[in-house]
Amino acid sequence: MAAKVFPKGFLWGAATSAYQVEGGIENCDWAQAARDGRVPVCGRACDHYNRYEEDFDIAKKLGHNAHRLSVEWARIEPKEGTFDEQAIEHYRKVLKALRVRGIEPFVTLWHFTLPEWFAESGGFERRDAPRIFARYALFVVRKLEDLCSHFSTMNEPNVFATQGWINGEWAPFKISAKPWKRVHTANTTQRDKALFGVQYLNVVEHLAKAHNAAYAAVRQSNNEVKLGIVKHIHVYLPTTGLRNIVRTKLSNYFQNKRFLRKTIHQIDEIGVNFYQATRYGTELTDKKTDMGWNFTPERIYEALMLVADYKKPMFVSEAGVADEDDSDRAEYIKKQAAATLRAIQDGADVRGHMYWSLLDNYEWAHGFDKRFGLVAVNYETLERTIRPSAYVYKEIIEHNGLVDGG
Ligand code: BGC
Repeated sequence: MAAKVFPKGFLWGAATSAYQVEGGIENCDWAQAARDGRVPVCGRACDHYNRYEEDFDIAKKLGHNAHRLSVEWARIEPKEGTFDEQAIEHYRKVLKALRVRGIEPFVTLWHFTLPEWFAESGGFERRDAPRIFARYALFVVRKLEDLCSHFSTMNEPNVFATQGWINGEWAPFKISAKPWKRVHTANTTQRDKALFGVQYLNVVEHLAKAHNAAYAAVRQSNNEVKLGIVKHIHVYLPTTGLRNIVRTKLSNYFQNKRFLRKTIHQIDEIGVNFYQATRYGTELTDKKTDMGWNFTPERIYEALMLVADYKKPMFVSEAGVADEDDSDRAEYIKKQAAATLRAIQDGADVRGHMYWSLLDNYEWAHGFDKRFGLVAVNYETLERTIRPSAYVYKEIIEHNGLVDGG
């Protein structure tokens, strides 16, 4: 039994992001993209903006003692350089609501959505984006530092850049040339695709500089809070065949390692988001999640061991499964927790685990159909229903470990 227990003080909870649950955010690039008919409308989402107390009551009831959330940049800085005190006041209330329930907050300053003024003027393609982002980050940390000790500047910078400038699925919807795949799109020329590839590299560069600038700005004013990033890790398993091996190495470098190398000296702790593993050249498993992703919860082990090399404290800041009928989520959670524990036993300094997500939510370009929540949301009535798997997670939390070898 002892071997299956997590370190004392290990934090357990779930994660959300502002745009995906709050509702009522109309001045960001995603809302604009929805008005343009390019992505589903988010609208009132889960109305978490007004119902956060009820939602945190549920988290508490489920045994959570940590919660990751993001604040919405577009609410806080609705015009360039103009900060909205009322918006900050709201998030102060949200953090207090967590604290009174004994739940440790982890705040992400920016989770994918950009204020419209920033996006329209070029967003992270702008050369001065790092300065703009650092000013925003410093403002928020100063306003919230008495209520929160764990901040991340940004969520999954690589996913943001890849979806926006390579896959063209998110704003600004640019599709780059992929050496291993011929993508034919009616109105994108080869020249455009090459240009977008260069822009992608620039955006990643600006994101890294934005993080580093934010870190430097915050450090000048506060030496106490922890400031890091939340990094998506896609596990690329070893494979055979030259083409597959080269692709594995390139993906691992560009998607997993490169950004961390550029920022690691300005990181106090790393949030690890994990969803799936791939083995190029092989169908890894027939079992898929509702996202069509490989059902590979145990591979979080490799994700954590990869990040452990950077020798920083870590948190699982997101990991979970889209599973509408809740038939696989309990298994997923148990395997994920067991693999996290194995990584800790093998030396990874993991200090907490936040399941994605507390609530069903707006799954970006997929809209509301994909259901990641421990808690189901009826989008007509906004009624919350705790899924059975949430109690399996609760049991793990209560034991601070795995009960049946899971
Ligand atoms: C993102 C979340 C998203 C989840 C599931 C992560 O990439 O941070 O916003 O909902 O994956 O797709």
